[in-house]
Amino acid sequence: MRTRCNDEQTNSGYTTMSDSGVKVLVVGGAGYIGSHAMLELAQRGFDPIALDDLSSGHRWALPPERLVVGDIADAALLDRLFAEHRFEAVLHFASFIQVGESVRKPLAYYRNNVANTVALLAAMERHGVKRFIFSSTAAVYGTPDVAPIPEDATLRQENPYGRSKAMVEAILADCERAWGLESVCLRYFNAAGAHPSAEIGEAHDPETHLIPLVLRVALGTAECINVFGDDYPTADGTCIRDYIHVCDLVDAHVLALQRLLAGSGSDVFNLGNGKGYSVLEVIETCRRITGHPIPAKVAPRRPGDPAILVASAEKAQQLLGWRQQFARLEDIVATAWAWHRKQPSA
Ligand code: UFG
Repeated sequence: MRTRCNDEQTNSGYTTMSDSGVKVLVVGGAGYIGSHAMLELAQRGFDPIALDDLSSGHRWALPPERLVVGDIADAALLDRLFAEHRFEAVLHFASFIQVGESVRKPLAYYRNNVANTVALLAAMERHGVKRFIFSSTAAVYGTPDVAPIPEDATLRQENPYGRSKAMVEAILADCERAWGLESVCLRYFNAAGAHPSAEIGEAHDPETHLIPLVLRVALGTAECINVFGDDYPTADGTCIRDYIHVCDLVDAHVLALQRLLAGSGSDVFNLGNGKGYSVLEVIETCRRITGHPIPAKVAPRRPGDPAILVASAEKAQQLLGWRQQFARLEDIVATAWAWHRKQPSA
């Protein structure tokens, strides 16, 4: 039986369960999702090396011997890395992720999320590495006609962030035609929660995501949570999102990687729970888990927020054999709470 997300120490070294010798490059491996992926890959017998410029990642998030600090736009560094290690695949987590910021600074998003990914792919082509796992997003769908959203729903991004991810998805298909790159695009819904060890978790600066911001109120570092709009066409008027635990997310990456290495070819999967919760439901769940009243006040809508984004997770369940371990919102919030309480500012 495979072990997942167990509570082993992270920062002082990984305990590798078996040694398949499969070396993989994890770009953005010091970030929130990347660091959970590093740990999971190591525990499932891979030999992961992280490349991270530490612009939003953290040194403490992984063992030092696993981290190469650098920029994916640095072709000489990539050439050295690819020459030194025989990577069988690359997992790419490094990107800017804020929808609102992408509207204000589109070129920063196209440079970081598209141009830098092109530089990474060019290095892979130079070195004959032909397997790629890409962190895409539900934002490629824009405001969908259907809920839950299947992978073949129409793509019509509404902001530069979503467009930057859709562009990379298209580039990957062109690279497959041109030089045989095989890729799996994983379209994340709302990643949340933390490793059950509480050794690693979400630490964005600035933080814009709902659950960590609500938990800051419970910790006493913020006075109240703003609810961005209560006049959406949903039961309680607040936006509905599909929250997926970070450990379940990285489990799907390992399954997708194993399938790709087994020769399945390119594919695309939604990663969500298939169940939506409104902003008010999330706040209420945080109140139950933390025992804090968490005052909330209604604020104007945040531009670019679709009313409802819920994944159909059926394809990943059927083809990857993916089963969520933390499907309940309570469990997601509880792991996030344990992590946030351990932070020095708590
Ligand atoms: N929200 C609030 N108050 C806050 C913060 C958020 O009401 O202080 C609301 C938002 O308006 C939204 C919901 O909580 O309705 C979730 O917001 P998040 O910022 O946590 O997450 P998003 O749904 O905006 O974005 C996430 C990822 C993006 C990705 C998107 C895809 O962070 O990278 O999901 O749906 F593009």
